Amino acid sequence: MDLENTVEYNIRDSLISTSMLIALFVGTLFIAHYVFFVEKPEPMVQKVIPRTTLLKHPFAGVCTNCHDISHSHPVALNKHNMNNFTLTFFEKQLLIAGQEVVVPNADILARAPALTREDILPHKFMGVCSNCHSTFKFPASKAYIRKSMITARKPLDPMAVNSDLIARGLSNVQTPMQKFFRVLFGGLAVIMMALNSIFVIIRLLLRRNPEKYSAMFDSKTGFQLHIYSAVALLISFALHIAFSVEGNNFLHITIILLPWLFAIGCILKYRMGKGLSINIRLAHSQQILYCVLLILLVIGHWDKF
Ligand code: HEC
Ligand code: HEC
Repeated sequence: MDLENTVEYNIRDSLISTSMLIALFVGTLFIAHYVFFVEKPEPMVQKVIPRTTLLKHPFAGVCTNCHDISHSHPVALNKHNMNNFTLTFFEKQLLIAGQEVVVPNADILARAPALTREDILPHKFMGVCSNCHSTFKFPASKAYIRKSMITARKPLDPMAVNSDLIARGLSNVQTPMQKFFRVLFGGLAVIMMALNSIFVIIRLLLRRNPEKYSAMFDSKTGFQLHIYSAVALLISFALHIAFSVEGNNFLHITIILLPWLFAIGCILKYRMGKGLSINIRLAHSQQILYCVLLILLVIGHWDKF
């Protein structure tokens, strides 16, 4: 490469890396804005509820969609301590059915992901959503609100509905079929990740001892495997998410991280051998981010082990 070309590539490299950094920064700000600066919607119901409130109607969405919440701290409420409070017969019925108000601790707060306004309750009811979750600013769709207002006006009847459903605010849980596909695509994703890392390991070995290992591995086939398994990984990852009902903040970061790794992988593939310095830097960042991804996936699935 002559001097002129090198200069040209250096300018192009720094332009590309600068714009990528800017994109990452703006993207992060954009997400942070929706997570942390939660706009308070106009309350749609004139009933202010305190943070220690049980769900009195079939589940209709994030409480702040419709209610104003009074500034109080949640107090733990369950069937064991209910006699310490002045509760109506109906409220006691709800607690006996399995609803409870949990005072969030640091562990719960770390695990509770940000919600969208159309989320339903996937876990046993644990008090007003904003006790633990921050809520994205996006408003719920008109059709969703209309439907959930109708649901909200239907009273929960502990005599008529089974108590396990009441405990979950009547929200749906995963069907066995959904669970089957979630596990299937999750397993496939793990296999694809393993296949995908073979190439990286070969490269590391080759760099250490080229003579010994170049006879052992076919680098070209390894690279083909790397590409195909990356595509298969992205697809099975997406399907695994589509069939999942529960996630957490660690796993949600991986939803950004994996496509990011994939996108950089594509840049590396199609720019191979041109701007060398940026390629090396990107390839290094891929290795670090891949390790971060692995750690996040393990922590995020900790309760599944
Ligand atoms: C889609 C809108 C909507 C959402 C979301 C919603 N509610 Fe309601 N809620 C209502 C409506 C409407 C009423 C009044 C029902 C009536 O009187 O017909 C109500 C009434 C109540 C009442 C009874 C208040 C009283 O004084 O009788 C409680 C308690 C309550 N909601 C708790 C909650 C909790 C807790 C959440 C979140 C888990 C929640 N609601 C989410 C619409 C909603
Ligand atoms: C006491 C704290 C607490 C309260 C209150 C609470 N949650 Fe959660 N929620 C969590 C935690 C913690 C998780 C993470 C998964 C887990 O550990 O079960 C979670 C997970 C979720 C998820 C799964 C997220 C995903 O992307 O898969 C949804 C949806 C959700 N909550 C909705 C709600 C809604 C809606 C309300 C209010 C009606 C609510 N939560 C109230 C603590 C809470």
